[in-house]
Amino acid sequence: MLLHRRATTLRRGLVLVGLTSVGALPALAQRRVEVTLTAAPTRLSLVPGATTEIFAYNGQFPGPTLEFREGDRVTVHFRNDLPEPTTVHWHGLNLPFTSDGSPFHPVAPGETYDYVFTIRPGTAGTYWYHPHPHHRTGYQIAKGLYGAVIVRASDDPLRGLPEKLIVISDNRLAGDNSIDLPASLSPAGIVDRENGREGDAIFVNGAVMPTITIRAGEVQRWRVINASAARVYRLSLPGHKLLHVGSDGGLFERPVEVDEILLANAERVELLVRGTGSPGERTALQALPYDRYIPQTRPAKWTETRELLTLQYTTKSPKRAASIPTVLRHVPALDTTQATARRLMVLTQGMINGRLMDPNRVDVLASLDATEIWEIENLVGMDHPFHLHGFQFQVLDRNGVPETFRSWKDVVNVPKHGTARFVVRYANYPGKWMFHCHILDHEDHGMMGILEVTGAPESRSAKR
Ligand code: C2O
Ligand code: CU
Ligand code: CU
Repeated sequence: MLLHRRATTLRRGLVLVGLTSVGALPALAQRRVEVTLTAAPTRLSLVPGATTEIFAYNGQFPGPTLEFREGDRVTVHFRNDLPEPTTVHWHGLNLPFTSDGSPFHPVAPGETYDYVFTIRPGTAGTYWYHPHPHHRTGYQIAKGLYGAVIVRASDDPLRGLPEKLIVISDNRLAGDNSIDLPASLSPAGIVDRENGREGDAIFVNGAVMPTITIRAGEVQRWRVINASAARVYRLSLPGHKLLHVGSDGGLFERPVEVDEILLANAERVELLVRGTGSPGERTALQALPYDRYIPQTRPAKWTETRELLTLQYTTKSPKRAASIPTVLRHVPALDTTQATARRLMVLTQGMINGRLMDPNRVDVLASLDATEIWEIENLVGMDHPFHLHGFQFQVLDRNGVPETFRSWKDVVNVPKHGTARFVVRYANYPGKWMFHCHILDHEDHGMMGILEVTGAPESRSAKR
Protein backbone atom coordinates (compact mmCIF):
# COMPACT_ATOMS: atom_id res chain seq x y z
CA MET A 1 0.00 0.00 0.00
CA LEU A 2 1.31 3.39 -0.96
CA LEU A 3 0.58 6.09 1.51
CA HIS A 4 0.87 9.71 0.58
CA ARG A 5 2.60 12.44 2.48
CA ARG A 6 0.20 14.91 3.85
CA ALA A 7 1.69 18.35 4.04
CA THR A 8 1.47 19.06 7.69
CA THR A 9 3.22 21.14 10.21
CA LEU A 10 4.10 19.14 13.26
CA ARG A 11 2.32 21.60 15.50
CA ARG A 12 -0.96 21.12 13.67
CA GLY A 13 -3.87 20.69 15.96
CA LEU A 14 -2.32 22.57 18.87
CA VAL A 15 -5.07 24.25 20.80
CA LEU A 16 -5.46 26.11 23.99
CA VAL A 17 -9.13 26.22 24.61
CA GLY A 18 -11.23 28.66 26.55
CA LEU A 19 -8.72 30.10 28.98
CA THR A 20 -10.48 32.32 31.42
CA SER A 21 -7.25 33.98 32.47
CA VAL A 22 -3.93 34.20 30.66
CA GLY A 23 -0.86 36.36 30.49
CA ALA A 24 1.48 37.78 33.09
CA LEU A 25 0.25 35.90 36.11
CA PRO A 26 2.45 35.34 39.11
CA ALA A 27 4.04 31.89 38.78
CA LEU A 28 1.83 30.27 41.41
CA ALA A 29 -1.52 31.75 40.43
CA GLN A 30 -3.93 29.07 39.36
CA ARG A 31 -5.51 29.37 35.98
CA ARG A 32 -8.87 27.94 35.22
CA VAL A 33 -8.70 26.09 31.95
CA GLU A 34 -11.78 24.82 30.17
CA VAL A 35 -11.62 22.41 27.28
CA THR A 36 -14.46 21.12 25.15
CA LEU A 37 -13.88 17.69 23.69
CA THR A 38 -16.27 15.67 21.56
CA ALA A 39 -15.71 12.14 20.28
CA ALA A 40 -17.60 11.37 17.09
CA PRO A 41 -17.33 9.35 13.89
CA THR A 42 -15.89 11.28 10.97
CA ARG A 43 -14.35 10.66 7.55
CA LEU A 44 -10.79 11.70 6.79
CA SER A 45 -8.28 11.00 4.08
CA LEU A 46 -5.54 8.70 5.34
CA VAL A 47 -4.46 7.42 1.91
CA PRO A 48 -4.45 9.27 -1.42
CA GLY A 49 -7.75 9.50 -3.22
CA ALA A 50 -9.77 7.78 -0.51
CA THR A 51 -11.40 8.54 2.77
CA THR A 52 -11.66 6.32 5.81
CA GLU A 53 -14.31 6.31 8.45
CA ILE A 54 -12.64 6.92 11.78
CA PHE A 55 -13.51 8.15 15.26
CA ALA A 56 -12.03 11.53 16.16
CA TYR A 57 -11.85 14.04 18.98
CA ASN A 58 -13.13 17.42 17.77
CA GLY A 59 -12.95 16.11 14.20
CA GLN A 60 -9.14 15.88 14.34
CA PHE A 61 -6.77 12.94 13.94
CA PRO A 62 -4.95 12.78 16.31
CA GLY A 63 -7.12 14.76 18.71
CA PRO A 64 -6.16 18.31 19.67
CA THR A 65 -2.96 18.72 21.67
CA LEU A 66 -3.89 20.06 25.10
CA GLU A 67 -1.38 22.30 26.84
CA PHE A 68 -1.60 22.87 30.56
CA ARG A 69 0.63 24.47 33.16
CA GLU A 70 1.46 23.14 36.59
CA GLY A 71 -1.21 24.49 38.94
CA ASP A 72 -3.93 24.77 36.28
CA ARG A 73 -7.44 23.86 37.37
CA VAL A 74 -8.76 22.01 34.39
CA THR A 75 -12.30 21.12 33.39
CA VAL A 76 -12.75 19.03 30.28
CA HIS A 77 -16.34 19.13 29.05
CA PHE A 78 -16.60 15.85 27.20
CA ARG A 79 -19.41 14.75 24.92
CA ASN A 80 -19.76 11.24 23.53
CA ASP A 81 -21.24 11.33 20.04
CA LEU A 82 -20.00 7.81 19.25
CA PRO A 83 -22.46 4.95 18.74
CA GLU A 84 -21.02 3.17 21.81
CA PRO A 85 -19.87 3.93 25.39
CA THR A 86 -16.43 5.45 25.86
CA THR A 87 -14.30 7.32 28.42
CA VAL A 88 -11.39 9.73 28.23
CA HIS A 89 -8.41 8.49 30.22
CA TRP A 90 -5.64 10.98 31.05
CA HIS A 91 -2.71 8.61 30.77
CA GLY A 92 -0.04 9.39 33.37
CA LEU A 93 -1.72 12.35 35.05
CA ASN A 94 -2.14 12.33 38.82
CA LEU A 95 -5.81 13.18 39.27
CA PRO A 96 -8.96 12.24 41.21
CA PHE A 97 -10.42 8.78 40.60
CA THR A 98 -13.67 10.16 39.14
CA SER A 99 -11.65 12.00 36.47
CA ASP A 100 -9.40 9.07 35.51
CA GLY A 101 -11.68 7.94 32.70
CA SER A 102 -11.19 4.30 33.65
CA PRO A 103 -13.77 1.58 32.88
CA PHE A 104 -15.48 2.52 36.18
CA HIS A 105 -16.91 5.69 34.64
CA PRO A 106 -18.28 4.94 31.17
CA VAL A 107 -19.98 7.71 29.23
CA ALA A 108 -22.99 6.44 27.26
CA PRO A 109 -23.66 7.55 23.67
CA GLY A 110 -25.17 11.04 23.64
CA GLU A 111 -24.04 11.71 27.21
CA THR A 112 -21.60 14.27 28.60
CA TYR A 113 -19.05 14.04 31.42
CA ASP A 114 -16.86 16.67 33.07
CA TYR A 115 -13.30 15.65 33.88
CA VAL A 116 -12.08 17.98 36.63
CA PHE A 117 -8.51 18.00 37.90
CA THR A 118 -5.66 20.21 39.04
CA ILE A 119 -2.29 19.83 37.39
CA ARG A 120 0.01 19.02 40.28
CA PRO A 121 3.29 20.86 40.82
CA GLY A 122 6.33 18.86 39.68
CA THR A 123 4.41 16.97 36.99
CA ALA A 124 5.51 18.94 33.91
CA GLY A 125 5.94 16.41 31.13
CA THR A 126 4.37 14.73 28.13
CA TYR A 127 1.19 12.73 28.57
CA TRP A 128 -1.66 11.57 26.37
CA TYR A 129 -5.35 10.89 26.43
CA HIS A 130 -7.29 7.98 25.00
CA PRO A 131 -10.50 6.00 25.55
CA HIS A 132 -10.57 3.28 28.22
CA PRO A 133 -13.95 1.53 28.06
CA HIS A 134 -14.19 -2.07 29.20
CA HIS A 135 -12.97 -4.42 26.39
CA ARG A 136 -13.07 -1.71 23.65
CA THR A 137 -9.95 0.38 24.27
CA GLY A 138 -7.96 -1.18 21.42
CA TYR A 139 -10.84 -0.83 18.99
CA GLN A 140 -11.50 2.83 19.76
CA ILE A 141 -7.82 3.82 19.67
CA ALA A 142 -7.41 1.95 16.35
CA LYS A 143 -10.35 3.98 15.06
CA GLY A 144 -8.36 7.18 15.76
CA LEU A 145 -9.07 8.32 19.31
CA TYR A 146 -5.88 9.56 20.94
CA GLY A 147 -4.21 12.89 21.56
CA ALA A 148 -1.27 14.53 23.36
CA VAL A 149 -1.15 16.45 26.60
CA ILE A 150 1.77 18.75 27.36
CA VAL A 151 2.23 20.00 30.90
CA ARG A 152 4.58 22.95 31.29
CA ALA A 153 6.53 24.07 34.35
CA SER A 154 6.90 27.73 35.17
CA ASP A 155 10.64 27.17 35.63
CA ASP A 156 11.28 24.94 32.61
CA PRO A 157 15.08 24.63 32.23
CA LEU A 158 14.70 24.00 28.48
CA ARG A 159 12.43 26.97 27.88
CA GLY A 160 13.25 28.73 24.65
CA LEU A 161 14.32 25.68 22.66
CA PRO A 162 12.18 25.10 19.56
CA GLU A 163 9.86 22.20 20.24
CA LYS A 164 8.42 19.39 18.10
CA LEU A 165 5.71 17.01 19.14
CA ILE A 166 5.85 13.54 17.58
CA VAL A 167 2.87 11.26 18.22
CA ILE A 168 3.58 7.88 16.66
CA SER A 169 0.95 5.27 15.96
CA ASP A 170 0.77 2.48 13.42
CA ASN A 171 -2.40 1.28 11.77
CA ARG A 172 -3.60 -1.18 9.18
CA LEU A 173 -6.07 -0.48 6.40
CA ALA A 174 -8.14 -3.06 4.54
CA GLY A 175 -8.50 -3.15 0.75
CA ASP A 176 -11.43 -0.72 0.88
CA ASN A 177 -9.33 1.68 3.00
CA SER A 178 -11.37 1.02 6.12
CA ILE A 179 -9.53 0.42 9.38
CA ASP A 180 -8.67 -3.27 9.32
CA LEU A 181 -10.12 -4.83 12.46
CA PRO A 182 -10.41 -8.58 11.88
CA ALA A 183 -12.94 -10.68 13.78
CA SER A 184 -11.30 -11.94 16.95
CA LEU A 185 -11.50 -15.62 15.96
CA SER A 186 -10.20 -15.13 12.39
CA PRO A 187 -6.55 -16.11 11.78
CA ALA A 188 -5.52 -12.43 11.62
CA GLY A 189 -7.56 -11.71 14.75
CA ILE A 190 -5.79 -14.48 16.63
CA VAL A 191 -2.37 -13.11 15.66
CA ASP A 192 -3.46 -9.63 16.77
CA ARG A 193 -4.66 -10.97 20.07
CA GLU A 194 -1.35 -12.71 20.66
CA ASN A 195 1.11 -10.10 19.34
CA GLY A 196 -0.94 -7.00 19.82
CA ARG A 197 -2.28 -5.38 16.67
CA GLU A 198 0.37 -3.87 14.42
CA GLY A 199 0.01 -2.19 11.04
CA ASP A 200 2.27 -1.36 8.17
CA ALA A 201 1.28 2.29 8.02
CA ILE A 202 3.14 4.34 10.59
CA PHE A 203 1.52 7.69 11.27
CA VAL A 204 3.36 10.59 12.87
CA ASN A 205 0.82 13.19 13.99
CA GLY A 206 -1.67 11.61 11.60
CA ALA A 207 0.61 11.77 8.54
CA VAL A 208 2.93 9.25 6.93
CA MET A 209 6.59 10.39 6.81
CA PRO A 210 6.14 14.09 7.61
CA THR A 211 9.15 16.42 7.56
CA ILE A 212 10.73 18.32 10.41
CA THR A 213 13.10 21.08 9.40
CA ILE A 214 16.13 22.04 11.43
CA ARG A 215 18.85 24.61 10.94
CA ALA A 216 22.45 23.48 11.29
CA GLY A 217 23.60 24.23 14.82
CA GLU A 218 20.07 24.47 16.17
CA VAL A 219 19.03 22.41 19.21
CA GLN A 220 15.43 21.13 19.16
CA ARG A 221 13.41 19.57 21.93
CA TRP A 222 11.37 16.61 20.73
CA ARG A 223 8.53 15.12 22.72
CA VAL A 224 7.75 11.64 21.43
CA ILE A 225 4.65 9.66 22.35
CA ASN A 226 4.13 6.04 21.37
CA ALA A 227 0.36 5.82 20.94
CA SER A 228 0.55 2.44 19.17
CA ALA A 229 -1.45 -0.56 20.30
CA ALA A 230 1.60 -2.80 20.46
CA ARG A 231 4.48 -1.65 18.24
CA VAL A 232 7.71 -0.76 20.02
CA TYR A 233 10.10 1.76 18.44
CA ARG A 234 13.87 1.59 18.81
CA LEU A 235 14.49 5.19 17.85
CA SER A 236 17.66 6.28 16.13
CA LEU A 237 18.68 9.28 14.08
CA PRO A 238 21.59 8.32 11.79
CA GLY A 239 24.60 10.59 12.16
CA HIS A 240 23.28 12.05 15.40
CA LYS A 241 23.68 11.26 19.06
CA LEU A 242 20.51 11.87 21.01
CA LEU A 243 20.34 13.66 24.33
CA HIS A 244 17.71 11.83 26.34
CA VAL A 245 16.30 14.37 28.79
CA GLY A 246 12.99 12.98 29.99
CA SER A 247 10.48 10.16 30.06
CA ASP A 248 6.84 9.58 31.04
CA GLY A 249 6.67 11.92 34.04
CA GLY A 250 8.98 14.67 32.79
CA LEU A 251 12.63 15.66 32.84
CA PHE A 252 15.52 13.73 34.35
CA GLU A 253 18.06 15.38 36.65
CA ARG A 254 20.57 15.66 33.80
CA PRO A 255 20.73 14.84 30.09
CA VAL A 256 21.96 11.38 29.07
CA GLU A 257 23.71 10.97 25.72
CA VAL A 258 22.61 7.88 23.81
CA ASP A 259 22.66 6.37 20.31
CA GLU A 260 19.14 5.01 20.49
CA ILE A 261 16.07 5.03 22.70
CA LEU A 262 13.61 2.19 23.16
CA LEU A 263 10.05 3.51 23.24
CA ALA A 264 7.52 0.87 24.26
CA ASN A 265 3.87 1.49 23.60
CA ALA A 266 2.28 4.16 25.82
CA GLU A 267 5.73 5.44 26.88
CA ARG A 268 6.92 8.98 26.19
CA VAL A 269 10.40 10.43 25.82
CA GLU A 270 11.81 13.90 25.64
CA LEU A 271 15.05 14.28 23.78
CA LEU A 272 17.26 17.00 22.39
CA VAL A 273 18.32 16.83 18.76
CA ARG A 274 21.44 18.81 18.02
CA GLY A 275 21.71 20.00 14.44
CA THR A 276 25.19 18.62 13.89
CA GLY A 277 24.57 18.03 10.16
CA SER A 278 25.31 20.48 7.36
CA PRO A 279 22.93 22.87 5.60
CA GLY A 280 20.77 21.07 3.02
CA GLU A 281 21.46 17.60 4.47
CA ARG A 282 18.60 15.19 5.06
CA THR A 283 18.16 12.17 7.28
CA ALA A 284 15.28 10.20 8.81
CA LEU A 285 14.17 9.27 12.28
CA GLN A 286 14.28 5.49 12.23
CA ALA A 287 12.78 2.60 14.13
CA LEU A 288 15.42 -0.14 14.27
CA PRO A 289 14.33 -3.79 14.50
CA TYR A 290 13.29 -4.84 17.97
CA ASP A 291 12.27 -8.36 18.84
CA ARG A 292 9.47 -8.09 21.38
CA TYR A 293 7.65 -11.10 19.92
CA ILE A 294 7.14 -14.76 20.61
CA PRO A 295 8.60 -16.73 17.69
CA GLN A 296 5.26 -18.35 16.72
CA THR A 297 3.59 -15.06 15.77
CA ARG A 298 6.61 -12.83 15.09
CA PRO A 299 5.90 -10.88 11.88
CA ALA A 300 8.13 -11.83 8.95
CA LYS A 301 9.21 -8.22 8.44
CA TRP A 302 10.26 -7.54 12.02
CA THR A 303 13.93 -7.25 11.00
CA GLU A 304 13.25 -4.26 8.75
CA THR A 305 14.28 -0.77 9.76
CA ARG A 306 11.34 1.61 9.38
CA GLU A 307 11.48 5.32 8.67
CA LEU A 308 9.18 7.54 10.72
CA LEU A 309 9.87 11.08 9.58
CA THR A 310 12.32 13.11 7.50
CA LEU A 311 14.70 15.51 9.20
CA GLN A 312 15.58 18.16 6.63
CA TYR A 313 18.33 20.73 7.23
CA THR A 314 17.58 24.19 5.89
CA THR A 315 20.14 25.78 3.59
CA LYS A 316 20.81 28.56 6.09
CA SER A 317 24.33 28.88 7.45
CA PRO A 318 24.90 27.17 10.80
CA LYS A 319 23.54 28.82 13.86
CA ARG A 320 25.61 29.22 17.00
CA ALA A 321 24.66 26.22 19.10
CA ALA A 322 22.36 26.98 22.03
CA SER A 323 23.82 26.03 25.38
CA ILE A 324 22.22 23.01 27.04
CA PRO A 325 21.87 23.02 30.81
CA THR A 326 23.80 20.24 32.53
CA VAL A 327 21.29 20.10 35.38
CA LEU A 328 17.60 19.96 34.47
CA ARG A 329 15.70 19.61 37.73
CA HIS A 330 15.73 17.77 41.01
CA VAL A 331 14.02 14.38 40.93
CA PRO A 332 13.47 13.45 44.59
CA ALA A 333 14.11 9.76 45.28
CA LEU A 334 11.22 7.75 46.69
CA ASP A 335 12.54 6.19 49.89
CA THR A 336 12.56 2.40 49.51
CA THR A 337 13.26 1.96 53.24
CA GLN A 338 9.76 3.36 53.86
CA ALA A 339 8.16 0.60 51.80
CA THR A 340 5.43 -1.13 53.76
CA ALA A 341 4.60 -3.81 51.22
CA ARG A 342 6.07 -5.72 48.32
CA ARG A 343 3.73 -6.71 45.54
CA LEU A 344 4.55 -9.47 43.12
CA MET A 345 2.82 -9.35 39.74
CA VAL A 346 3.39 -12.42 37.64
CA LEU A 347 2.60 -11.96 33.97
CA THR A 348 1.50 -14.93 31.93
CA GLN A 349 0.00 -14.61 28.47
CA GLY A 350 -3.19 -12.57 28.94
CA MET A 351 -3.22 -12.71 32.74
CA ILE A 352 -1.76 -11.13 35.88
CA ASN A 353 -1.21 -13.48 38.85
CA GLY A 354 -3.25 -16.07 36.99
CA ARG A 355 -6.37 -13.94 36.85
CA LEU A 356 -8.35 -11.98 34.33
CA MET A 357 -9.58 -8.49 35.18
CA ASP A 358 -12.74 -8.43 37.28
CA PRO A 359 -14.23 -5.00 37.95
CA ASN A 360 -15.79 -6.35 41.17
CA ARG A 361 -12.50 -7.57 42.61
CA VAL A 362 -9.75 -5.54 44.26
CA ASP A 363 -6.35 -7.12 43.66
CA VAL A 364 -4.21 -4.82 45.76
CA LEU A 365 -5.46 -2.86 48.75
CA ALA A 366 -3.29 -0.04 50.09
CA SER A 367 -3.61 3.13 52.09
CA LEU A 368 -2.99 6.65 50.99
CA ASP A 369 0.58 7.86 51.51
CA ALA A 370 1.96 4.31 51.63
CA THR A 371 5.18 3.54 49.79
CA GLU A 372 5.38 0.13 48.14
CA ILE A 373 7.69 -1.88 45.93
CA TRP A 374 6.23 -3.74 42.98
CA GLU A 375 8.03 -6.56 41.25
CA ILE A 376 6.73 -7.45 37.82
CA GLU A 377 7.84 -10.85 36.63
CA ASN A 378 7.22 -11.76 33.02
CA LEU A 379 7.03 -15.52 32.45
CA VAL A 380 6.19 -15.12 28.78
CA GLY A 381 8.54 -15.19 25.79
CA MET A 382 7.38 -11.74 24.70
CA ASP A 383 7.61 -8.27 26.22
CA HIS A 384 4.71 -6.81 28.18
CA PRO A 385 4.71 -3.07 28.95
CA PHE A 386 3.23 -2.69 32.44
CA HIS A 387 1.25 0.45 33.26
CA LEU A 388 -0.14 1.79 36.55
CA HIS A 389 -2.86 4.44 36.66
CA GLY A 390 -2.88 7.37 39.05
CA PHE A 391 0.71 7.38 40.30
CA GLN A 392 4.12 7.91 38.78
CA PHE A 393 6.72 5.42 39.98
CA GLN A 394 10.50 5.10 39.91
CA VAL A 395 12.01 2.01 38.30
CA LEU A 396 14.60 0.44 40.63
CA ASP A 397 16.01 -2.26 38.38
CA ARG A 398 15.34 -4.36 35.30
CA ASN A 399 16.50 -7.97 35.29
CA GLY A 400 18.34 -7.11 38.49
CA VAL A 401 20.36 -4.34 36.85
CA PRO A 402 19.86 -1.08 38.79
CA GLU A 403 18.63 1.92 36.83
CA THR A 404 21.50 4.33 36.34
CA PHE A 405 19.43 7.46 36.96
CA ARG A 406 16.07 8.40 38.44
CA SER A 407 12.98 9.24 36.46
CA TRP A 408 9.22 9.33 36.88
CA LYS A 409 7.47 6.60 34.92
CA ASP A 410 4.00 5.20 34.50
CA VAL A 411 4.88 2.42 32.05
CA VAL A 412 7.77 0.00 32.32
CA ASN A 413 8.47 -2.46 29.56
CA VAL A 414 9.05 -5.87 31.13
CA PRO A 415 11.19 -7.83 28.68
CA LYS A 416 10.46 -11.45 27.76
CA HIS A 417 11.31 -13.78 30.66
CA GLY A 418 12.44 -10.67 32.55
CA THR A 419 11.71 -8.75 35.70
CA ALA A 420 11.29 -5.09 36.57
CA ARG A 421 10.94 -3.53 40.00
CA PHE A 422 9.64 -0.11 40.87
CA VAL A 423 8.89 1.94 43.96
CA VAL A 424 5.67 3.94 44.16
CA ARG A 425 4.10 6.22 46.76
CA TYR A 426 0.33 6.66 46.75
CA ALA A 427 0.55 10.36 47.58
CA ASN A 428 -2.82 11.30 46.08
CA TYR A 429 -5.63 10.30 45.42
CA PRO A 430 -7.79 7.54 46.93
CA GLY A 431 -9.76 5.39 44.49
CA LYS A 432 -9.58 2.34 42.31
CA TRP A 433 -6.68 2.41 39.90
CA MET A 434 -6.08 0.03 37.06
CA PHE A 435 -2.77 -1.63 36.35
CA HIS A 436 -2.39 -3.51 33.12
CA CYS A 437 -0.36 -4.57 30.15
CA HIS A 438 -0.52 -1.67 27.68
CA ILE A 439 -0.59 -3.93 24.63
CA LEU A 440 -4.19 -2.98 23.96
CA ASP A 441 -5.27 -6.44 22.83
CA HIS A 442 -3.94 -7.88 26.11
CA GLU A 443 -5.57 -5.16 28.17
CA ASP A 444 -8.95 -5.67 26.49
CA HIS A 445 -8.61 -9.42 26.97
CA GLY A 446 -8.32 -8.79 30.71
CA MET A 447 -4.58 -8.60 31.47
CA MET A 448 -5.42 -6.03 34.08
CA GLY A 449 -6.03 -5.67 37.80
CA ILE A 450 -7.20 -3.11 40.34
CA LEU A 451 -5.29 -1.27 43.05
CA GLU A 452 -7.57 0.30 45.61
CA VAL A 453 -6.10 3.15 47.63
CA THR A 454 -8.08 4.16 50.68
CA GLY A 455 -7.77 7.14 52.99
CA ALA A 456 -8.62 10.81 53.32
CA PRO A 457 -9.58 12.56 50.06
CA GLU A 458 -6.21 14.23 49.67
CA SER A 459 -2.98 13.92 51.59
CA ARG A 460 -1.61 17.01 53.28
CA SER A 461 1.69 16.57 51.54
CA ALA A 462 2.16 18.36 48.23
CA LYS A 463 4.80 15.84 47.24
CA ARG A 464 3.70 13.21 44.82
CU1 C2O B 1 -2.94 4.40 28.65
CU2 C2O B 1 -5.04 2.21 31.40
O1 C2O B 1 -3.98 3.36 30.05
CU1 CU C 1 -3.23 5.06 32.05
CU1 CU D 1 0.88 -7.89 27.23
